Amino acid sequence: MRPDHEKFFLRELCWSDLRQGSGIWETLNELTPANCVVSLRARLKIWLNLKREGSFVLVAIWRENGQIVGHVKLLPDQKIARGGALAGHVEDVVTRQGFRNQGVASALLKELKREAILRGMYKLTLACHDWLEGFYARFDFVKTDSGMRANL
Ligand SMILES: CC(C)(COP(=O)(O)OP(=O)(O)OC[C@H]1O[C@@H](n2cnc3c(N)ncnc32)[C@H](O)[C@@H]1OP(=O)(O)O)[C@@H](O)C(=O)NCCC(=O)NCCS
Repeated sequence: MRPDHEKFFLRELCWSDLRQGSGIWETLNELTPANCVVSLRARLKIWLNLKREGSFVLVAIWRENGQIVGHVKLLPDQKIARGGALAGHVEDVVTRQGFRNQGVASALLKELKREAILRGMYKLTLACHDWLEGFYARFDFVKTDSGMRANL
C-alpha cells in the first residue's frame, strides 16, 4: 500500500500516460527537451522497451488536475560478477515547476527505494549535479567517485 499524500498520489506509469496531455512530456521536458508529439509507433516502442528492460517507472499525479507532475525510473542491472545479484540505477528524477517543494520527489524516491528492496536489489546508484547531493543524502545516498560519460 503506497502512502497517501494530500495533493498527489503515486502510481506506476501506464501505457496511456505516454499520450499527449497526460503531463508526462511536460514533466520530462524539464530534464531535457522532450518531444511532446510522439507518434503511436514511437510510443509503442518506448513502452515495449520499458517492459523488456524490466524498468519500474513511478509517476506522481496531481489530484486537482489529474496531471503527471513527477517522474522517476528504476533500471535493474544484473551483476554477473555477483552471481546475478541485482543493482538498480535511479534515472530521471524530476518534478514539474510549479509543483516543487511539496514533497513529490521525496515521495517518489522513498517509494522507489521500497520497490528496489522488494525486488531484492542490493544497491542503488544515480548520477547528479553537486548541488543535489544534499537532497539525495536525505535518502541515504552517499557520494562515491565521480562518474564519467561519453556522448555517442
Ligand atoms: C530536485 C527536484 C527533483 C526536487 O523535487 P521536489 O518535488 O521539489 O522535491 P521535494 O519537494 O520532495 O523536496 C524538496 C526539499 O528538498 C530540498 N532541496 C531541493 N533541492 C535541494 C538541493 N539542491 N540540496 C539540498 N536540498 C534540496 C528543498 O529545499 C526542500 O526541502 P524541505 O523539504 O525542507 O522544504 C526538483 O527540483 C527538480 O525536478 N529539479 C529539476 C530536475 C533535476 O535536477 N532532477 C535531478 C536529476 S539528478
